[in-house]
Amino acid sequence: MTLAPATAERLLGTAREARQHAYAPYSKFRVGAAVLVEDGRVFAGCNVENSSFGLTVCAERNAVAAAVVAGGRPIAVAVVTDDDHVGPCGACRQVLAEFDQDMTVVLADHDGGDARSVSLSELLPAAFRFENR
Ligand code: THU
Repeated sequence: MTLAPATAERLLGTAREARQHAYAPYSKFRVGAAVLVEDGRVFAGCNVENSSFGLTVCAERNAVAAAVVAGGRPIAVAVVTDDDHVGPCGACRQVLAEFDQDMTVVLADHDGGDARSVSLSELLPAAFRFENR
């Protein structure tokens, strides 16, 4: 699905705001994410780290959880980090692919640099599907 530029901007704006709330005292790498659902609502997530490092939850998965708990199903996502065009980690790619293997992933930098849109299937060409096991 190709996102309208205004929709991509809306997602990026929400992701940028969410990044401000990241709890990343260990890595200092703040990530914001925003998930679009079918009815046009947008849900935010940021990374939440823990002193037991393995309990850290990525921004993308927190945004997916917020969307799902509100009854939505993700159809696109934006990710904003301290660097340019950083894609979701492998675990988050798999979690996003649960909802749409071809969803648009909008990648930007945190201070309004040029965004880049890719299909999730480019980032994760062979997602695990329970029905294909
Ligand atoms: N992180 C995310 O929030 N999303 C990703 O896709 C990659 C990594 C977070 C986890 C951790 O808080 C920090 O970035 C450094 O790995």
